[in-house]
Amino acid sequence: MTRRDFINATSASYASLLAWGMLHPAPASAFNLPANGQRTDGKGRKVIILGAGLAGMTAAYELGKLGYECTILEARSRSGGRVWTIRGGTKETEIGGGSPQTCSFDNGHYFNGGAARIPHHHQLTLQYCKELNVPLQIFNGANESAYLYNDGGTGDLANRRMRISDYHNDMRGYTAELLSKALDQSTLDQQLTKEDVEKLIDFLKNEGDLNTAHLYKGTNRRGYKIKNDPGAGNLPGTLTDPYGLTDLLRSGFMQPVFYNVGDYAYEQQATLLQPIGGMDAIPKAFEKKLTGKIVFNAPVKELRKTENGVRVIYQKDGKTVEITGEFCVCTLPLPMLKNLESDLSGTVKRAADFIPYMKTGKIGLQFKRRFWEEDDGIYGGITRTNMDINQIWYPSFGLQEAKGVLIGYYNFYSRAEAVGALSITEREKMALALGAKIHPQYPNEFENSFSLAWHRTPYSEGGWANYDDATRKKYYPALLEPDGNIYFAGEHTTYLTAWMAGAFTSARRAVEAIHARVGEYTKK
Ligand code: ALA
Repeated sequence: MTRRDFINATSASYASLLAWGMLHPAPASAFNLPANGQRTDGKGRKVIILGAGLAGMTAAYELGKLGYECTILEARSRSGGRVWTIRGGTKETEIGGGSPQTCSFDNGHYFNGGAARIPHHHQLTLQYCKELNVPLQIFNGANESAYLYNDGGTGDLANRRMRISDYHNDMRGYTAELLSKALDQSTLDQQLTKEDVEKLIDFLKNEGDLNTAHLYKGTNRRGYKIKNDPGAGNLPGTLTDPYGLTDLLRSGFMQPVFYNVGDYAYEQQATLLQPIGGMDAIPKAFEKKLTGKIVFNAPVKELRKTENGVRVIYQKDGKTVEITGEFCVCTLPLPMLKNLESDLSGTVKRAADFIPYMKTGKIGLQFKRRFWEEDDGIYGGITRTNMDINQIWYPSFGLQEAKGVLIGYYNFYSRAEAVGALSITEREKMALALGAKIHPQYPNEFENSFSLAWHRTPYSEGGWANYDDATRKKYYPALLEPDGNIYFAGEHTTYLTAWMAGAFTSARRAVEAIHARVGEYTKK
């Protein structure tokens, strides 16, 4: 069988071929753009880019390689948009009457307020990190030593923390035991031969760690009783006892918030990565390549179509400034586009009006001691709960240092809305009170915090575009075509919403479309 036959026979997707190592991803630098008639580059052609987030900067970087003259207008005093690392000195004042915050984390401590992890299969993101010399480290996403905590339940296992490994191993054990019993009674699919059934039972024995009688009686996968670990001499260790199946079923851990996403969700499976020193290493690396091309503190006020291109009006140092260009790459998040005075078509305006954005927030809590490591053996990973804090993220860097910053909540939808509506002080109080139910060390060890709600963050006003099938069908197509000479890019113009990969791939799509069009023009 040839490789092609194999690919056809299995209808393997590009992504799975990449994953199997059968294809090599194109390096970010090898664009292979179409030849452009007489004129083979973009020299002298002006492109105005709205937004110095990853999409805007990638567009400027790639267009720059092709000779285009790019100007990026950025409303903030920093680049990166939703790629934002919070460290000592970071300042922000949220919209809707938020009080000013200045972060007072110690030197070297930080958390990623927006983008915070890179899946191993986001080839383009990884390629840009390589091309721009951004060193990476492992982001520990799935850690079986972190906790689950179901608050307010009635079962014996509610209102107390449980190690994820206890839950997963017990449930795997019991379900494997039940299935193997069912198989023994031949109640399953008649197509299985006796040998097939034996093999399946072997699998289940391993999967659930069943004993020789195919029963689940606990497993050393759950670890040992506290202070009863295996040791030297006569210390074989004492295994923990499994929880009962009915107790587990009544535990409340079957709610979606507790699902085993770290193992199951494609984007969260190991290995995840992150830049050393904070996610903003990526925008900072782009900035170095774009010297003199980014105008900071320049919020866009109007976006106009002209006979030959575009005209953009922005504010700078209290003055109104106007620039013109042949093309525009607009990467503004839709909540910003919605309020922009513009000549955009009705279909684009409706997309901006009706495509909803995720409400989401995080808080970074600095503690004077890394008690989650010292007392609980948790090095990175995520604790999940049905409380408003939703998730606690432990840092995968700075291990065993004296102090540490963990993410005390990461929430979405109504939880994020409720928490985001609180004052900065109330958010901190809430994060500490609820977090202390899982980590009683909180009150003694806490030092300071910095919180954010993306839907209240100026110039973003949302976490990411949150499509459902209906909005995807009705509004998304308008963002894929140029509106006159205005091209759209950003995660909201992709099927990789909420990921940096969306920003990168959309920028390259816009660059390709502009360059192809320039080629069309010059052929005439
Ligand atoms: N991509 C976002 C995350 O990793 C949603 O949480």
